[in-house]
Amino acid sequence: MPIVVKDLSFAYGKGTPFEKKALDGVSLTIEDGEFLGIMGHTGSGKSTFIQHLNGLVKVQSGEIDVNGIKLTSAKRPKPDLKALRAAVGMVFQYPEYQLFDDTVIKDVAFGPKNMGFKKEEAEEMARQALRLVGLDPDEVGQKAPFELSGGQKRRAAIAGVIVMKPKILVLDEPTAGLDPYGKEQILDLVLRLKEECSPTVIVISHDMDEITRYASRLVVFGEGKVAFDLPMEQLFEHGRELEELGLEIPTAVRLATALKARGIDLGSGIVNMDTFTAAVLKKFAEKGVPVKEFCGIDWFGERSKKSGIGAADDNGSADIFGEGI
Ligand SMILES: Nc1ncnc2c1ncn2[C@@H]1O[C@H](COP(=O)(O)OP(=O)(O)OP(=O)(O)O)[C@@H](O)[C@H]1O
Ligand SMILES: [Mg+2]
Repeated sequence: MPIVVKDLSFAYGKGTPFEKKALDGVSLTIEDGEFLGIMGHTGSGKSTFIQHLNGLVKVQSGEIDVNGIKLTSAKRPKPDLKALRAAVGMVFQYPEYQLFDDTVIKDVAFGPKNMGFKKEEAEEMARQALRLVGLDPDEVGQKAPFELSGGQKRRAAIAGVIVMKPKILVLDEPTAGLDPYGKEQILDLVLRLKEECSPTVIVISHDMDEITRYASRLVVFGEGKVAFDLPMEQLFEHGRELEELGLEIPTAVRLATALKARGIDLGSGIVNMDTFTAAVLKKFAEKGVPVKEFCGIDWFGERSKKSGIGAADDNGSADIFGEGI
């Protein structure tokens, strides 16, 4: 079932002199199986919004329906928060700071034990979860969390969330603080988790290049409201407004716009380096330029290598369009 949010508003410190409006009339439907990216400037309400989805922040006004569980400001009927939290797994920013138990296996097994599973069952679930996030339970299970590397810690923390196999996985800036390789690793992991356990994924990100590669849909928050909820190809037609909201336009879109200004129109539908690459290759094909490895230069990132994409004329010239560009 989809997640339906209607007219959700929220203020911190409501009714006090320090009242701070964080959400202002947000309406949004998130379909089953989506990979939704949420963007927006600092303080635009992204974290407050997602924390509503598993009942961590209580609805003040408006309503939310998650998997048939209704969340409103009414005192009764009380929502089944246990079922809600089993359905919505929430990975906070820097989740590794929340590892607390003396061994990794105990930490990951904490959720299932809390839900009433026996120790052995909970630990077996934890072992499976660790494998799913790419950690060997025999190698890391008995270690203390602080003995793991940074990337391993983040994976272990994610294991602690997906151990209950939530249908909906929500991650608040899961790549924050990682180097580019670490970021790609975590996002590839998120894609795998989407395939293997949590079909609906919601990710907050600050990085337009990153999120446009992974998300199937992007929603932009601004000042506590949904500023844009458009198909990605249409979203980037609003480049100036996005920049006014403090967002960077994806590199691929900027490149395509710059090429267009110089007379090379790569067509519509460019939202990320994959779609940019495909459009460039199409252009090459139209012009009869041979497509080869690009002289060892990884122009388009790891992914292009995986998909075998790389393009150049025989001497790797930058004059690939034969028009001085
Ligand atoms: N616990 C809190 N008490 C008071 N105000 C808060 C609290 N948490 C957030 N706010 C305020 O609510 C607004 C929305 O904050 P929120 O954390 O949801 O934004 P965000 O889009 O996640 O920002 P960021 O990109 O910096 O993580 C901001 O103005 C913020 O200062
Ligand atoms: Mg936030």
